Amino acid sequence: MEIPFAESYKIKMVEPIYRSTRKQREKWIDEAHYNLFNLRSDQVFIDLLTDSGTGAMSDNQWGAIMQGDESYAGSSSYYRLKEVIQSLFGFEYFLPTHQGRAAENVLFSALIKEGDLVPGNSHFDTTKGHIEFRKAKAVDCTISEAFDTESNHPFKGNVNLEKLEEVLKSGKNIPLIIMTLTCNTSGGQPVSMENLKQVKKLAEKYNTSVLFDSARFAENAWFIKKREPGFEEKTIKEIVREMYSYADGMTMSSKKDGIVNIGGFLAMRSKKWFDKATTFNIMFEGFVTYGGMAGRDMNALAVGLDEVTHKDYLETRISQVEYLGNKLIEYGIPIQKPIGGHGVFVDAKRFLPNVPKEEYIAQTLAIILYLEAGVRGVEVGTLLADRDPETHDNRYPELEFLRLAIPRRTYTNNHMDVVAAGLKNVYDMRDEIRTGLKIHKEAPIMRHFTVELYKA
Ligand code: F0G
Repeated sequence: MEIPFAESYKIKMVEPIYRSTRKQREKWIDEAHYNLFNLRSDQVFIDLLTDSGTGAMSDNQWGAIMQGDESYAGSSSYYRLKEVIQSLFGFEYFLPTHQGRAAENVLFSALIKEGDLVPGNSHFDTTKGHIEFRKAKAVDCTISEAFDTESNHPFKGNVNLEKLEEVLKSGKNIPLIIMTLTCNTSGGQPVSMENLKQVKKLAEKYNTSVLFDSARFAENAWFIKKREPGFEEKTIKEIVREMYSYADGMTMSSKKDGIVNIGGFLAMRSKKWFDKATTFNIMFEGFVTYGGMAGRDMNALAVGLDEVTHKDYLETRISQVEYLGNKLIEYGIPIQKPIGGHGVFVDAKRFLPNVPKEEYIAQTLAIILYLEAGVRGVEVGTLLADRDPETHDNRYPELEFLRLAIPRRTYTNNHMDVVAAGLKNVYDMRDEIRTGLKIHKEAPIMRHFTVELYKA
């Protein structure tokens, strides 16, 4: 008999989670104004809101926490992290920040001005927010296959190089091209090495720079190893090193592939960028050698950045995401294919064809799944896409996703079975679901976090 696959870790500490009744959930979600961000975590049984900062640290990371050096300046924890970043990504300069969007804030303060264009694959919402806040424009050049959930293109995070070149030719000021690895918005979809290489070539031709938004860099490297010819025998570290040879710098949300609960950084090759960013880092984040992070957290991150590149870790991680995705496929539920790196993205428009787009299809599905099984996912659709900053009209994205993001090393496949069964029950009653939600109150930017809704 073939020996089956199993997780590459065992459990040393547990945290209780709570089941609830549908009646309780109906009351709670009404009190939360149909916004899942407003729920208390103990009102959720299985929390797939995000994979950001919600993972479990290893015993080695907890050990490193005890050895954190909390000196204000020049701590050994800073130098330990600096060495790991330098050897993994090849960047000489680095600044710690309190999380990923803080790294964006610091670097964009130094580099992006009003009227600039910033092309890339689908930018994450905070990235886009920081670009638009500076009255610059994020231009999405993602390949069209990414918007067809049935297409099995292995690298749906790629940019269309012709589209990108059109933007580069426009004569507008373009300080950066941003490549998001993996591309969260399109479904945790990877970018191929070839695409990264060609983007760098174009950047050189048009005299601009390439930044990697690196939140899920190791998951991206895993897919290169598995799907791109020529990389099967390379180690994840070798693949990461080559990926970053095509970048001038990176912003990082350490809460994902750093496997820590909070933290971020930026790293770069250019001393000029570093000097400019340093001023903003000191202003917004903290002194150069801690930037909003405790010494102990920098230690845990140094260990996490190494663990995340281990083959056994990544195999366990991606297998779990595939386990859930394949169950949903088995039930006939439409999802973004191929299955991505950090979660399963349900195609809500195809799931609920009778709900009008003006009534927030993916949010509606997220709420119904919560009511059914106590599972919290998140909308990646019209609420997240926000309003056009000029016309203030709703922007209706091509895809409306219910994202089921899986925290790292946290849930078992039994939990995945609960999620799949809950979603199947909702799928079986999809024909009767004809109405969604309306907005009662919203913020002028990044409304999805605080929006208040009611049943249409
Ligand atoms: N870039 C990407 C691709 C992200 O997914 C995120 C966060 C950020 C930047 C910002 O990092 O949260 O540390 O400030 N994504 C989380 C998510 C929130 O749920 O996908 P942050």
